[in-house]
Amino acid sequence: MSTEYISTVFDLDVTGPDHTRRLALTLAQHLNAGDVLLLSGELGAGKTTFTRSLGEGLGVREGVISPTFVLSRVHPNLTDGPRPGGPDLVHVDAYRLSSAEELDDLDLEFSLPRSVTVIEWGRDKAEHLSDSRLELDFTRLTGADARFAYSGAEEFSWDDEDKDESDEDADTPEPRLLRVRAFGPRWEHAFDALKEDLQSA
Ligand SMILES: Nc1ncnc2c1ncn2[C@@H]1O[C@H](COP(=O)(O)OP(=O)(O)OP(=O)(O)O)[C@@H](O)[C@H]1O
Ligand SMILES: [Mg+2]
Repeated sequence: MSTEYISTVFDLDVTGPDHTRRLALTLAQHLNAGDVLLLSGELGAGKTTFTRSLGEGLGVREGVISPTFVLSRVHPNLTDGPRPGGPDLVHVDAYRLSSAEELDDLDLEFSLPRSVTVIEWGRDKAEHLSDSRLELDFTRLTGADARFAYSGAEEFSWDDEDKDESDEDADTPEPRLLRVRAFGPRWEHAFDALKEDLQSA
């Protein structure tokens, strides 16, 4: 086993939900089957919101919701979507899992080669799935930080039919800080292009 290393890291000021969506659609264009994403951030930070748009960008069957009781969902790639023949989306919420051993019971390694595997709350539980991964950390900004970042915010504009009771403030666009970190050989030569695209999304 080679020593794990960070290819690089950068931060993005996310102005609101529409910006979150654009970032996810942009990221989707850079993802291939076998890629693993670990999403972190407090409850309601935007992990599922981001994943929903990622699914849109990958062209997979809809229904990415906050999977309160379902730990793992497969969203098959659509033949009439933007990436026919492309990867499926496997969306996992590991919030209730307390260890890598419990995550292993989901048998994600079987779907992994043909899928983009997105794991909310996957930090410290899912690193062993692949030698490479992207980590996305969402942070809610408060106070002066928030007012500054929100000055360029856009209207909330996507349909939010799948929102659940945790989404009380869904109509309120809020700024977020998104930290993107890449680990492993997969991103060694692919990260600069990804960073450039995300920074202009
Ligand atoms: N800039 C933003 N980016 C993403 N979501 C935002 C933003 N501003 C406001 N929101 C709202 O915040 C909520 C985020 O909820 P979401 O379910 O995506 O969070 P989560 O991180 O998946 O939480 P959990 O840990 O409970 O699964 C949504 O209601 C969304 O509309
Ligand atoms: Mg969620």
